[in-house]
Amino acid sequence: MTAELITGISELTTQAAEFAHDDDRLTDAALVIENGRISWIGAAADAPATDTAVDVGGRAVLPGWVDTHTHLVFAGDRAAEFEARMAGQKYAAGGIATTMAATRAASTADLIGNARRLRREAEASGTTFLETKTGYGLDLTSELRSARAAAEVADVVTFLGAHVVPPGLDRREYLDLVTGPMLAAVTPHVDFIDAFCETGAFDVEESREVLLAGRAAGLGLRLHGNQLGFSGGVQLAVELGCASVDHCNHLQPADIDALAGSDTVATLLPACDLSTREPFPPARALLDAGAHIALASNCNPGTSYTGSMPFCVATAVLQMGLTVREAVWAATRGAARAVGREHGPDAVGSLTIGGRADLQVLDAPSVAHLAYRPGVQLCLATWTEGVRAAR
Ligand code: NIG
Repeated sequence: MTAELITGISELTTQAAEFAHDDDRLTDAALVIENGRISWIGAAADAPATDTAVDVGGRAVLPGWVDTHTHLVFAGDRAAEFEARMAGQKYAAGGIATTMAATRAASTADLIGNARRLRREAEASGTTFLETKTGYGLDLTSELRSARAAAEVADVVTFLGAHVVPPGLDRREYLDLVTGPMLAAVTPHVDFIDAFCETGAFDVEESREVLLAGRAAGLGLRLHGNQLGFSGGVQLAVELGCASVDHCNHLQPADIDALAGSDTVATLLPACDLSTREPFPPARALLDAGAHIALASNCNPGTSYTGSMPFCVATAVLQMGLTVREAVWAATRGAARAVGREHGPDAVGSLTIGGRADLQVLDAPSVAHLAYRPGVQLCLATWTEGVRAAR
């Protein structure tokens, strides 16, 4: 049982109230990792003797990013669609069928290989915990294959059979498939069920039917809502007690009030908003009203082909009116809440005694540099359950 001391920490962001000093950050700090867990946190001057020590040389340490919205199981890319969008074409859900065709045609090894490549990219920028979804298979065999692939690559898996109705299929027949045999097949491999509640995908009643079927099968609930318009998704997510409603670009005051009065996290996806040219969600209004928010990358080939959480954090600060502290919280502990992992022995997104040693070192003295030096690769190293990877 090797104890490893991490010392020389100029600023330690724990996201744990019991260590909240001055804005939740400790200065001149150190911590000890044993058996994948944190066994000690405190002032560097008081650090205990350990078997090994790493001096990070006056740099910032914080929890690894918790990315709770990605779609990594796919094949192909949609650069041409992106280029057309940047030339003025509006995003609609139609491109999902392009990725569906490429995904069905790909081998399982290629699907897993691509998802692993994207996970590695995310890890290189500090992600230590990641959710991913099905949703580009859209028939029973392909969704099951996607669910199994997702379970090999991600920490949390979401079933998104209700992404769109695949071309040529009757809506009612497809909904019966998703809520019946497809759900039964994927349930052993997934943690959550999701639906894309939007014009061009599924309406509120259809989304409700999908989520209730998932709940009956024992899955947690999450929802894509209010991305392209006032879809009613946010109200549905709150009504059903979803862990998270994701996107939230178009909110009316009643949606903000509903979120503020609920435990449902509004997961905001800044990289997607830039790539689709949708208005940013009213993040400031959500926080000021008392709603819980998270930030996620939404890495996928259609609307957000990046797994960079630092890019999302910087955008949230520079474009969405969040403070650095709020954005870092939303990408760590706030995100953990969106997948039900904020508390308990398997908690992620915070650094506590006895908790998972999932952390990152920045090549910077403080987390402010994440937004102050946007676009710069600052992640120097991560520890995931105590295992170090240099970047
Ligand atoms: O979260 N909004 C729905 N699903 C994805 C994008 C899907 C696609 O266009 O491939 C998203 O943005």
